[in-house]
Amino acid sequence: MSSRMSFQVALNFEDGITRFVECRPDETVAEASYKARINIPLDCRDGACGTCKSLCESGRYDGGDYIDEALTDDEAARGYCLPCQMTPRSDLVLRINSSSAAAKTGPATFAATLAGIRRHSPSTVEFTLDADDRENLEFLPGQYVNIAVPGTGHTRSYSMSSGPGRRLLSFLVRIVPGGAISGYLTERARIGDRLELTGPMGCFYLRELTRPALLLAGGTGLAPLLSMLEQLARRPAGQPVRLLYGVTSDQDLVHLDTLEAFADTVGGFTFDHCVADPASTARNTGFVTGLLDRPALYDGDADVYLCGPPPMVEAVRAHIGSLGVTPAGFHYEKFTPAVPHDTAEAA
Ligand code: FES
Repeated sequence: MSSRMSFQVALNFEDGITRFVECRPDETVAEASYKARINIPLDCRDGACGTCKSLCESGRYDGGDYIDEALTDDEAARGYCLPCQMTPRSDLVLRINSSSAAAKTGPATFAATLAGIRRHSPSTVEFTLDADDRENLEFLPGQYVNIAVPGTGHTRSYSMSSGPGRRLLSFLVRIVPGGAISGYLTERARIGDRLELTGPMGCFYLRELTRPALLLAGGTGLAPLLSMLEQLARRPAGQPVRLLYGVTSDQDLVHLDTLEAFADTVGGFTFDHCVADPASTARNTGFVTGLLDRPALYDGDADVYLCGPPPMVEAVRAHIGSLGVTPAGFHYEKFTPAVPHDTAEAA
């Protein structure tokens, strides 16, 4: 057994809200959740009814004692578990079978200070926030927060491009004329501005790597994948990780130097990029799908993480289907950079 005093358990609810609880190796996930005042679904608390059944997406645990009516061997083999019985052996990510409201919890709100703005190019800006209560703003790499845009009454969703281990939170924004955050960042923002953000949210996050990973980014969809790479850089070399990054024009290409640095620090990591504009000087012109053949998909024995605008996500899904490949794991996030939105779509 690990000598760690406690593990971090991420509870992902059906509405995309994630809450984190600390769980000791000798207490059940249900006990730890209730201590944190998060009422995950429970009935018998004895491994008999199956009410608490959840899907463990990442991590190791002792499943505890239960009867077949609550959890079959087949379900257990597919990663289902019973929080009222299970005790952690590593950090865990669980998908909980209820909304956050039903569990009497919800998204947390944080005040933050604008700490930096970096104009990568005419089309792309990065900004950095210093959250007041950062130690309580835990997130999984790939997740997003909702940011109240100062002076607008609008909220926009952005994925962190920084890893969970870094104090400052970074975000990538595609500049859109008339866009709420575009207008704020390019016209009014001042270092030191106070903002409010809510989260973390989203099911697009890095799972434990048990097979090769293929990361596919369209435009600022690179952001959550950068966060994942930062997390991977903290681990020993393992499975191959390949990133394919597609943009519309040369000015949209950002963070190539960061990707080069990851190629040096993340064991097994390689990347390539392409630009749709035929006038580009990039080595590859065209769409990401042009770089995707069966070998690139490891003939399906890969976990695919795909983030980009809806047409790109749909084109990639259709392309993978046309190759006759079904990836072992497929996770995607669509965002709509040109359309104001207050919903759960993230950039
Ligand atoms: Fe009944 Fe967990 S609450 S099996």
